[in-house]
Amino acid sequence: MKAVVVEKPGDESVLKIGDVPDPVCGDEDLLIRVKCAALNRADLMQRQGFYPPPPGASEILGLECAGEVIELGKRVSGWRVGDRAMALLPGGGYAEKAVAHYGSAMKVPHALSDEEAAALPEVFLTAFLNLFSLAQVQREENVLVHGGGSGVGTASLQLLREAGARAIVTAGSDEKCQQCLKFGAAVAINYRKGPFAPQVKAVTDDRGADIILDSIGGAYFAENLDALAHGGRLVLIGLMKGATAEINLATVLRRHLKIFGSTLRSRSVAEKAKIVRDFLGRFGTALEAGKLRPPVYKAFSVSQVRDAHRMMQASEHFGKIVLRLA
Ligand SMILES: NC(=O)c1ccc[n+]([C@@H]2O[C@H](COP(=O)([O-])OP(=O)(O)OC[C@H]3O[C@@H](n4cnc5c(N)ncnc54)[C@H](OP(=O)(O)O)[C@@H]3O)[C@@H](O)[C@H]2O)c1
Repeated sequence: MKAVVVEKPGDESVLKIGDVPDPVCGDEDLLIRVKCAALNRADLMQRQGFYPPPPGASEILGLECAGEVIELGKRVSGWRVGDRAMALLPGGGYAEKAVAHYGSAMKVPHALSDEEAAALPEVFLTAFLNLFSLAQVQREENVLVHGGGSGVGTASLQLLREAGARAIVTAGSDEKCQQCLKFGAAVAINYRKGPFAPQVKAVTDDRGADIILDSIGGAYFAENLDALAHGGRLVLIGLMKGATAEINLATVLRRHLKIFGSTLRSRSVAEKAKIVRDFLGRFGTALEAGKLRPPVYKAFSVSQVRDAHRMMQASEHFGKIVLRLA
């Protein structure tokens, strides 16, 4: 089959279309003819050699896809050949065919196109896991989401809206802030214009945020603690600006703060299946009704994969960037 291959780590120019063996459908897998795959920030890191796939996973880029089921493993239940599937993958999405554990896959609702379906699993399941399962967000809580215009940010905004929580976001331009507000954020802060913590305090009656979903890491750690309410929860999911920080730990003690860290990709198939079940249990009706819909900023043909990576690297996009494989 054809797939995007990375001959050696590097910039976008190392991405090529090549011939690779078809993936093998295991006993608990679905074999999917991929119609679309979506980009994630992690793909850029993997391409550069900084984020190897977990043991046993495909070396091919791509953490999510949508397409048609063309083969079922013998222990798979609840799926038929011909079903439309959208799946979380440990790798292998940038290819004509991909295998997904059946517990990591969801039926595509009629309301969603293949492009939208491909763009949903990674970011919605990440937002769900971290905001709902780990941080246990409640109605009317103030939730600060860094990178409001990112894939994860736009998924978070939709889930928080459905849950009746109040979303505060940061973004890197006034234009992205406006888009976040239109997309359901109550407050959008342009982080390039000054520190975010005082603005978070100002819009929460000086309390601070109940939860922060952070993908920035080191550079924001101390300011995140300042921006949290007493008893607030910080969920760390990315390190876009550094993996180290120096903080005064007394703040954590005195203000009863909770700090979580998590990754989705490295989790076991059983854990991922539980996350998918819990997500569908809580948001399945909204999903079926088309209320959860990743904004697809641009869909590229797979032959334009380098342009797609360039666009993400430059953070031009709002929402998701998709590759069309079919
Ligand atoms: N732990 C997990 O399980 C997990 C799972 C999925 C994703 N993630 C992480 O979540 C983050 C978002 O992923 P994504 O795929 O949704 O990314 P994305 O769509 O590419 O968006 C990332 C956004 O972050 C902002 N940004 C980029 N570099 C930045 C920097 N140095 N400082 C501040 N802001 C920066 C940009 O928005 P502006 O233009 O507004 O600056 C950019 O659009 C990534 O860190 C990713 O690794 C973690």
